[in-house]
Amino acid sequence: MAQLRAFESARENGREVPEIVCFEKQEDWGGQWNFSWRTGIDGNGEPVHSSMYRNLWSNGPKEALEFAEYTFDEHFGRAISSYPPRAVLWDYISGRVEHSDVKKYVRFNTSVRWVQYDEETQKFTVTVEDLINRTTESSEFDHVIVGSGHFSFPNVPEFAGIETYPGSLRHAHDFRGAESFADKDVLLIGASYSAEDIGVQSYKMGARSVTLSYRTQAMGFDWPEGMREVPLVERFDGSTVHFSDGTSGEYDAVVLCTGYLHHYPFLPSDLALDSPNCIYPATLYRGVVAESNDKLFYLGAQDQWFTFNMFDAQAWYVRDVILGDITVPNQEAQEAHMATWLARADAITTATEEIQFQADYIRDLIEMTDYPMFDLDEVVRIFLEWKADKRSNILGYRDEVYTSVMTGTMAVVHHTPWLAELDDSIERYLSEPENDVQAVLNDGESVLESKP
Ligand SMILES: Cc1cc2nc3c(=O)[nH]c(=O)nc-3n(C[C@H](O)[C@H](O)[C@H](O)COP(=O)(O)OP(=O)(O)OC[C@H]3O[C@@H](n4cnc5c(N)ncnc54)[C@H](O)[C@@H]3O)c2cc1C
Ligand SMILES: NC(=O)c1ccc[n+]([C@@H]2O[C@H](COP(=O)([O-])OP(=O)(O)OC[C@H]3O[C@@H](n4cnc5c(N)ncnc54)[C@H](OP(=O)(O)O)[C@@H]3O)[C@@H](O)[C@H]2O)c1
Repeated sequence: MAQLRAFESARENGREVPEIVCFEKQEDWGGQWNFSWRTGIDGNGEPVHSSMYRNLWSNGPKEALEFAEYTFDEHFGRAISSYPPRAVLWDYISGRVEHSDVKKYVRFNTSVRWVQYDEETQKFTVTVEDLINRTTESSEFDHVIVGSGHFSFPNVPEFAGIETYPGSLRHAHDFRGAESFADKDVLLIGASYSAEDIGVQSYKMGARSVTLSYRTQAMGFDWPEGMREVPLVERFDGSTVHFSDGTSGEYDAVVLCTGYLHHYPFLPSDLALDSPNCIYPATLYRGVVAESNDKLFYLGAQDQWFTFNMFDAQAWYVRDVILGDITVPNQEAQEAHMATWLARADAITTATEEIQFQADYIRDLIEMTDYPMFDLDEVVRIFLEWKADKRSNILGYRDEVYTSVMTGTMAVVHHTPWLAELDDSIERYLSEPENDVQAVLNDGESVLESKP
């Protein structure tokens, strides 16, 4: 979506842009934000893409992800809170590109099956399957931009005896809501965002107890009564789970919050990015250009503090490479450049340094394009405030508000504290129940369409 918007922005500025085709295997855009109730295999026989759940709200302040060239104020026409639910963020990212009339470039329900590069013609042959008509076709492209995400193929470790576990067992990718955890003892394995948020969701929905099992380091939040952290699972013995500190517990449900794999089944190994989930994948020049092929690009392949505005910075850069406004240097210069950034990434020891690193990376990209520069240092400060808010209240941090660096607008406090809000719909979010003011939205329409 960022890439389509980037090219459209150039077109609006009078530039001639190449023919663009975007293949999307789902019937709508939005990627992770396009929620599906399904798990496993979708209606077209494809792996379900989104790992999001019904009750997901942004886990970082919206002021840290805001597009610099399409603000929340512009989309919603008024101030909203800092941690919107999924449907509200979907509306925002979707509204921007609806506005740009770029849907015509997307072939929905079309899965990319294989991409092959021909050294002689210097072109890619892309083979896709139309999932409705079940037809395959191949066409040639000068450039390929991979935007297929990297939080969809679950990393599923094995634990001794896990096959004897009789309760509900799934990976976070297949988690859709914690309602069924009411009055249950829940075990979450992992110590990152999925474990943290599925943990507090479970608490919110009335789980009897929530146990979080870490491999490397406990998250260390000031958990409410009923939530606790333990070291790694050693083995399962039926519904009893033994931990490496010698303690054990009985659990009704287990969720493996053990992260995701970079997996690109449509790319041969010489083109597929092979990386852990990290801040600077080692084989991407400026974080986007494949070292193996200057005509192949990846968007959003890094671990993400910044999200939407980083994807924009990357998309504007990739656009300008393709338009010929930016020249990618020779292999040697690319390697030297990557080595500098990698050395800095390798030396990082704290989350604060990682956030600053990503801010500097984004700044470096924006300085080369016409994407509007924004106050990245202030966003870093917002991130640090967010981290402190989580430290002081892991159940209440989503009620905090921040000021937009794009517009100066102070977010408004949501009408209902996150912990008490059980309706995650956009209609409810945009309503003002206390004052009995009518909701801004019409049935399921984008806010953009319903604005006068
Ligand atoms: C559970 C979860 C919660 C998150 N919460 C937040 C949050 O609160 N705030 C935040 O800023 N970020 C959050 N993120 C980060 C999220 O990764 C980004 O916000 C964003 O969605 C990444 O965009 P993307 O386009 O790179 O990938 P995705 O959103 O994953 O989109 C990739 C798209 O590629 C399509 N695709 C994949 N393979 C093929 C194929 N072979 N052929 C055709 N199409 C294909 C998919 O259908 C999908 O539409 C969350 C991620 C997860 C997993
Ligand atoms: N909006 C929201 O509320 C929300 C909710 C969920 C997820 N997300 C997003 O989703 C993305 C992915 O987050 P994630 O937490 O799923 O993945 P992640 O950040 O990559 O973390 C993976 C976790 O799994 C652990 N792990 C991996 N292999 C393991 C093993 N064999 N045994 C035990 N633990 C193991 C890791 O432990 P180590 O630390 O030891 O490596 C780490 O704690 C992030 O961008 C996040 O922001 C957002």
